[in-house]
Amino acid sequence: MIADSFGRIHDYLRISLTDNCNFRCFYCMPEEEYDFTPASRLMQTEEIIKLAKVFVDQGVKKIRLTGGEPLVRKDAAAIISALGKLPVELVITTNGTRIAEMLPTLKEAGIKTINISLDTLQPEKFMLITRRDVFHQVRSNIELLLQEKITVKINMVVMKGLNDNEIKDFINWTKHNPIQIRFIEFMPFSGNKWTSNKMFSLQEILTKVEKDFTVLPVEGAPHDTAKHFMIPGHEGSFAIISTMTAPFCSTCNRMRLTADGKLKNCLFSNGETDLLTALRNGEEVLPLIKANIWAKKKELGGQLISHFEKLDAEAINNRSMITIGG
Ligand code: GTP
Ligand code: 5AD
Ligand code: SF4
Repeated sequence: MIADSFGRIHDYLRISLTDNCNFRCFYCMPEEEYDFTPASRLMQTEEIIKLAKVFVDQGVKKIRLTGGEPLVRKDAAAIISALGKLPVELVITTNGTRIAEMLPTLKEAGIKTINISLDTLQPEKFMLITRRDVFHQVRSNIELLLQEKITVKINMVVMKGLNDNEIKDFINWTKHNPIQIRFIEFMPFSGNKWTSNKMFSLQEILTKVEKDFTVLPVEGAPHDTAKHFMIPGHEGSFAIISTMTAPFCSTCNRMRLTADGKLKNCLFSNGETDLLTALRNGEEVLPLIKANIWAKKKELGGQLISHFEKLDAEAINNRSMITIGG
């Protein structure tokens, strides 16, 4: 078991396969010219599998693949197939563009739930946010997953004045579709121009939904990031990920391995442990993992204050979201 000094057991590993992405969402990437990490500095397939096995031997039960966009990596299929053989629940967070061609691999690897990032249901706004004209491709890939009876969760980062007016449209989508919409409070990362007035809070989201619908809270699983809700008569449901106004760190069970092989014990941690270099030097990585997680701060990497109105995003020492993977 991998534990921290607050007694939290860590059995969920998020592995970023690449910091490359075929989208250019401003809230995820730094604005200035961004150089993706060269392939030689990324974990290679065998290195990912070796490291994943160390975690699985220590009780990790769930592995989530993230990016950038995990499915743009050339050897994504080989990595997914190999990880699918480990005794863990394998899941993925993707922008949904490469689902159709990857579907056989995803199914063979036993992936039953897919989280898709989709911040708008309007093609022009999609283009504005992602700078790519592929809204219809993503929407048809979501339909494909539903036909295949794969569980779909939609991640919608709510940003004031940009897409908060679409909350009702997303809820309406759940009426006849078994999808879960997860409204996410906008979080600050290096270079993403976060300001507190762009953030739309848990309470604001709930108030908006309750104006048009009857909302009932639903009990979630012990380590959930999301607070769950249902609307009577709707086939799907919705949830809210409230890192900024109601953090859920006390039940955190997550570890993050970046594409360049660094272990982060929190989404907002500034310390990292270089597991890839240790592995390449033939050193034992388990003591490094244990020490990294033991040093985990109680809440929000010890960096964010929960009074987000006073938060200076520029003062946070962290990577950009595209190099963490969410
Ligand atoms: P499930 O395993 O399906 O619950 O998904 P998830 O919420 O763990 O992962 P996903 O990649 O879909 O992330 C959705 C949102 O939750 C993103 O904005 C992530 O940054 C955020 N998120 C994921 N894990 C954590 C976490 O440990 N802490 C915080 N604060 N946010 C997280
Ligand atoms: N704040 C909140 N969520 C974010 N994501 C990316 N950037 C941010 C941010 N600044 C979400 C995306 C993706 C998930 C991995 O992280 O919606 O689905
Ligand atoms: Fe865990 Fe850090 Fe997220 Fe809190 S902010 S839930 S400690 S990863």
